[in-house]
Amino acid sequence: MKKLVCGILVLCMMLSLAACGSGKSGSENGSKDGSGSAADGIDYMALVNKLNALPDGWEEKIETVHMTNSVGDDVEVEKKAYDAYLGLKKDLEQEGVYVDLDSARRSVAAQQDIMDRFIEKYGAEYAAKTVAKPGYSEHHTGLALDLYLNVDGQDVYYNEDMVKYPEIWAKIHAKLADHGFILRYLKDKEHITGYGYEPWHIRYLDDTKTAEEIMSKGITLEEYLGTVGIYDVKIDYGTSELYTQEELEAAVIRIKCEFAAWEGCELHSIRYAGDEADTEENLKWLNDAAGGEQAYIQCAEFLMDYHSPKEASGAWNPDYEYTDWQFWLARTEDGGWDIVTSGNG
Ligand code: DAL
Ligand code: ZN
Repeated sequence: MKKLVCGILVLCMMLSLAACGSGKSGSENGSKDGSGSAADGIDYMALVNKLNALPDGWEEKIETVHMTNSVGDDVEVEKKAYDAYLGLKKDLEQEGVYVDLDSARRSVAAQQDIMDRFIEKYGAEYAAKTVAKPGYSEHHTGLALDLYLNVDGQDVYYNEDMVKYPEIWAKIHAKLADHGFILRYLKDKEHITGYGYEPWHIRYLDDTKTAEEIMSKGITLEEYLGTVGIYDVKIDYGTSELYTQEELEAAVIRIKCEFAAWEGCELHSIRYAGDEADTEENLKWLNDAAGGEQAYIQCAEFLMDYHSPKEASGAWNPDYEYTDWQFWLARTEDGGWDIVTSGNG
């Protein structure tokens, strides 16, 4: 059996990881220079994410407008964001791209309704990756806008349909910064934002230069604000006859999501340890470690190198390069990955 003598971090994370929930960061809401909320109005750079709730006092400061979209819904939007949206819409129409507003500002109660609906329809795990916890949605700010498309005169409204038009989204994304918007939930940044790719969810920053910098670098607002480090993470998928590249990528995203909660640590590399780890003995060990609640069908080991924070306390040696840190993942019957345990063997 592969023995983990970590003593410090043996984690049973099947449930917590389902949410991919705890993005790193831990920073306060506020602008990059740390000035926080503007005294005379809302802070257009405010960070609202899985760790940062809507800033206090927002409701008193925000000015909104209402519009009615093509399907007759009332949509409330922060005033400047709406003006910017109209500019974007007009600009896109010159290129034959037609958009409308599905949703912008949402109350906490409205967010709860969406969350309940998603949990019922898709299950808690999918809901957590797609819908923010009430109180922690960027939509509460009125600065986050969900677009929908009109293609050949037909509204394309549902997420599963909208993703079928990547070339249209590319045209839209190319224009965002000109109007002070950024794309908020990028592909392959799930480990930072905590959400999957949402080509429709745009965020107003009221600053075209900043928006341009963020969009041209292809980074998240978290990275721009410095609440997460940007490191050159080397990923080595090795070779596998058991798993496809997509399956290994899904496992790596799981690990990155978990790592994102290790505050102050810098991730340097992740390696797939090879198919040899998938033994019956290891599988039994992981099933036992999970308390027999799951019947895992396969398991995989990944190795990670990372650096602990300078002022690390508790679990880590301070300012230390950990190498070959083991992550043990197990495969559920529906093909998902659970992280069962992690540690330095
Ligand atoms: N879909 C985004 C994450 C929200 O619910 O705020
Ligand atoms: Zn949205």
